[in-house]
Order: sequence, then structure tokens, then C-alpha cells
Amino acid sequence: MGNVTIIKPSLKHAQGIKDLIDFYSQRRIVLPRSIADIYEKIRIFWVAVDEEGTVVGCVGLQFCWNDLAEIKSLAVREDYHGKGIGRTLVEYCLAEAREFGARKVFALTYVSDFFKNLGFVSISKDDLPHKVWSECINCQHFPNCDEEAVEMILS
Ligand SMILES: CC(C)(COP(=O)(O)OP(=O)(O)OC[C@H]1O[C@@H](n2cnc3c(N)ncnc32)[C@H](O)[C@@H]1OP(=O)(O)O)[C@@H](O)C(=O)NCCC(=O)NCCS
Repeated sequence: MGNVTIIKPSLKHAQGIKDLIDFYSQRRIVLPRSIADIYEKIRIFWVAVDEEGTVVGCVGLQFCWNDLAEIKSLAVREDYHGKGIGRTLVEYCLAEAREFGARKVFALTYVSDFFKNLGFVSISKDDLPHKVWSECINCQHFPNCDEEAVEMILS
């Protein structure tokens, strides 16, 4: 990962998270988030920062049920791709999910092969609790979701 560090963000990182999410949401790869939403949910995020403290990667881990957590808003700046940052961000989420007692972690994604490479398996979207879909109304793809659901059972 070179000189990149994974940290829990503070409020000063919110705009960097927003810029990253904007880049990919404009390409319809991740769900958009307002800056207000990022401030409100700052505690769900992990960020990858370079030596200057600039956000070059982000991910959110949101708990959604008694044993279930979702990986959201995973994004790595293009010039930092292929350095293991995406993998490490997901690993931080998995470790945090375990700490909180979650048994399963899932993601809705267009890069299912990336997740499968990390040990996730495909599942049917019908297996996810209805609560998961509450944010879908804000998605450009709603109601024709073509993302794939992937899941990891935590040991
Ligand atoms: C997907 C993404 C987060 C990967 O980040 P990254 O830092 O480049 O990934 P890493 O370097 O950690 O790659 C880890 C492994 O996954 C593989 N991989 C990376 N991107 C992949 C992709 N799009 N499809 C399949 N495999 C991928 C790598 O080859 C590497 O494999 P290896 O360990 O066997 O060598 C990044 O490409 C990205 O931000 N994409 C746009 C946003 C997006 O799609 N987010 C996911 C929304 S759920």
C-alpha cells in the first residue's frame, strides 16, 4: 500500500470521502451520498489516507440486523488502484464486524469478482432482509437493480 494508512476518519475527512463517492456515483458505480449524510454517518467509515492526509480510499460498514452487516461506499482513487487498498479496507470492515458480533457481512456490488477474490460468495438478493432496501429508493437504478449480492460468513 506504499505510504497509505487506514484510519477511522474525523469530520475533516468528510469532503474527501464525498469527492471519492461523487467520482464513482457519477459513473453509476456506487450510490451517491450527500455531505450531510457523510457527516451524520462518519462513524461507519474507514478511510485510506496518503502522507498528506488526503483521502484516497473509503468504505463504510453498516450494521443492519442482529447478525448482519453491510459493506457500503467502497471506493479507491483510480491512481491508487491495484495496491491492495480496497482489500485492506474490506479486511478492516470484516474485523470490525467480528468485534461487534456480526456473523455475516454482505455487499451489493458491480465488482463481485473483487469480493469473491476476498472469499465472499454470491447469494440471492431475496435472502437479504427487507430493511436492507430502504436506501434503494435513492438509487439511480431503482427499481431495476442489477447489482450482485455477495456475502461472507465470519468464522
Ligand atoms: C473495486 C476497488 C475498490 C478495488 O480497489 P483496489 O485497491 O484497486 O483493489 P486491491 O488492489 O485491494 O485488489 C485486491 C484484489 O482484488 C483484485 N481486483 C481489484 N479490482 C478488481 C475488480 N474490479 N474485479 C475483480 N478483481 C479485482 C485485484 O487484482 C487483487 O487481486 P490479488 O490480491 O489476487 O492480486 C476499486 O477498483 C474501486 O474503487 N472501484 C470503483 C468503485 C467500486 O466499484 N466500488 C465497489 C462498490 S461495492
